[in-house]
Amino acid sequence: MFGMMNPQSRIRSGLVFAVCLLLLNFRSSLMLHAEEFNYDESKVPPYTLPDLLKCEDGTVVDSADVWNTKRRPELLQMFEEHVFGTLPAGKIPLRTRVRSSVPDALDGKALRREVTVFFADDDNGPHMDLLIYTPVNATKPVPAFLGYNFNGNHAVEKDPRIHLTDSWMRNNKDIGIEDNKATEASRGSEASRWAVSTIINRGYGLVTIYYGDVDPDVDDGFKNGIHSLFEKGDSPRAGDAGGSISAWAWGLSRALDVLESDKAIDARKVAVFGHSRLGKTSLWAGATDQRFAMVIANESGCGGAALDKRIFGETVSRINTSFPHWFCINHRKYNNHEAAMPVDNHMLIALSGPRPVYVASAQEDTWADPYGEYLGLYHAGPVFKLFGKSVFESDKMPAVDTPMQVDVAYHMRTGKHDVTDYDWEQYLKFADTHLR
Ligand code: GCU
Repeated sequence: MFGMMNPQSRIRSGLVFAVCLLLLNFRSSLMLHAEEFNYDESKVPPYTLPDLLKCEDGTVVDSADVWNTKRRPELLQMFEEHVFGTLPAGKIPLRTRVRSSVPDALDGKALRREVTVFFADDDNGPHMDLLIYTPVNATKPVPAFLGYNFNGNHAVEKDPRIHLTDSWMRNNKDIGIEDNKATEASRGSEASRWAVSTIINRGYGLVTIYYGDVDPDVDDGFKNGIHSLFEKGDSPRAGDAGGSISAWAWGLSRALDVLESDKAIDARKVAVFGHSRLGKTSLWAGATDQRFAMVIANESGCGGAALDKRIFGETVSRINTSFPHWFCINHRKYNNHEAAMPVDNHMLIALSGPRPVYVASAQEDTWADPYGEYLGLYHAGPVFKLFGKSVFESDKMPAVDTPMQVDVAYHMRTGKHDVTDYDWEQYLKFADTHLR
């Protein structure tokens, strides 16, 4: 066609053609983007969940004993192999040092301590700082919540005496972090997510740790954080070697090791708590460490409480693309192949059973698939029932702002992806029932 035109018309037509192509491309990339994630309940494709109560050899799990001795270990191993990966077993000797102790924090209501836990002989090796609040008026060791924070311990309470973390931090202009280092401006920046005074007033302890102490949240080929303790040399990574979620869960267990000899805290009554990526982490910590007495997953979404085979909001492919360091390499096999996954997250939740588990969602947090989170908990129910626990009998989701608490609990609150006082109010009520 261009051959019969004069040079000027040729250039003009060529330009028009190129612009059309560009527009077409732009449109199809927009369409692709719009279609990439499903937020329409009527468009969730049919899916089949793997059977929680049938062992891989066909044995039916009809008792708590068969669950404990056969199905539970087998599922744990499947999550290690296909989802989170595993870290080499073996005990790392821990050293602790009290960095600070303030006897009259929170207007005199709390003892606030900072305790550094070293994972190596060298003080400059991997270590984490526990920020520990306990009520001063307690007459015996208290039950406590343990969970990671996102912005550093100094972000939990605006007090210049809390050590400003020297660990790597994600850049965040809102709190003045531009070169991966904590700033004075970030003090107290996460306070709204930690109802510390309420927790203390209700007679609980709170232990929090900056998650980046244990493993910086960046894809660096699994070199930094506690990975350096386990992965020496440059040999290729095994498909089931643990990613960051495994590392973070490992760190929570090490915190519990330390709390076991803390006189102010009853280590048999520690609820492990986490929000979002750290909610995925609290579920994995609850699964791998049965010493945690309660498990709370706040808006944990894909790879957390939400069923991954239910295609709604975030997908396996998207999470492994945006965060290649969170899961093990084998997990990538299921990018766009959720149906082939041998496990799903009702099984992850069941691994914490029959201990009390709280799953929470936020109405506007559609990325995390609130209904999928509810269904994850609902479909975990049969394991809790084996132990005589009460669970939800309906797959219909409770109305917004209507918490349901039995031996498991769920709420979807109004609002966006976050942790609020409302969430803590429900967790404290649940803890009053199960940790007292
Ligand atoms: C991203 C990610 C989620 C995760 C969340 C968070 O949105 O896609 O899977 O839960 O970050 O941790 O804040």
